[in-house]
Amino acid sequence: MTGFSFDFTGKTVFVMGGTSGINLGIAHGFARAGAAVAVASRKPEKVQAAVAELATHGGAVEGYQCDVRDVAQVRAAFEAAAKALGPIDVLISGAAGNFPAPALGISPNGFRTVVDIDLIGTFHVMREAHPHLRKPGAAIVNISAPQAFQAMELQVHVCAAKAGVDMITRVLAQEWGPEGIRINSLVPGPIAGTEGMARLAPTPEANAMVERSVPLRRQGSPEDVARVALFLASDAASYVSGVVLPVDGGWSAGGVPQLTQSWGHEPG
Ligand code: COA
Repeated sequence: MTGFSFDFTGKTVFVMGGTSGINLGIAHGFARAGAAVAVASRKPEKVQAAVAELATHGGAVEGYQCDVRDVAQVRAAFEAAAKALGPIDVLISGAAGNFPAPALGISPNGFRTVVDIDLIGTFHVMREAHPHLRKPGAAIVNISAPQAFQAMELQVHVCAAKAGVDMITRVLAQEWGPEGIRINSLVPGPIAGTEGMARLAPTPEANAMVERSVPLRRQGSPEDVARVALFLASDAASYVSGVVLPVDGGWSAGGVPQLTQSWGHEPG
């Protein structure tokens, strides 16, 4: 990565949800830094495309079709990755699903679906990765969201799920710390060009409003997030565990705007 010197040569990195958006940006960051990389997600065509992209960096790349709601699929993906690439040095857990809707517009199954993917999926990923993590030395980065600590209209399902994700980070940092495993949450703010932003800020006006609400007056890039993921996974962060770290241009420090005020959504 230009101007940064993280070296992951000889390391194995697994990025769950790593076939698009922020997570694919993170996978590129590790591949560029010399790691062998495995990515997994739900849609086989996205897996295939991501593997082809990541292979351009010249290292080993594996891809797996996997829905984090299905614990057997998660288990099989980690078993296959460990067999192909060896013990996992770095796990990025970033699979997530979201849609903006008021609580009264979400069916029980809609709420459950997001909790199943974001929260229970994270639990499956952590548990099934554990036997394959390098111990001591492994680092886990859970990709959280500002909704974990910022109440946001039209996001009751995501707020509930992501708050739980950050608690998984903290609890497992305690339980697995003695094995030499570090676990942190990374909280991306508004990141340009991602499916999440397309869903949450669907108009140019909404995007401009978001930019004005960020102290650094710009949306982030996948590279902004990837650099911090590499830092958290690197020896530079060898005494950092159980932390929830926003990468958001100062956005969360000021209290983020509500979707109905500025993000192009009608109130429920
Ligand atoms: N408003 C209200 N409810 C919605 C909704 C919306 N915009 N979109 C989906 N739902 C509900 C569905 O109606 C369904 O509930 P029901 O059975 O009671 O009707 C439930 O959510 C599941 O929807 P379904 O489309 O069957 O789920 P899926 O497993 O195919 O997709 C989602 C999962 C809903 C999270 C989907 O948005 C998705 O695939 N997201 C992945 C990508 C993504 O969100 N990226 C951004 C990450 S920040």
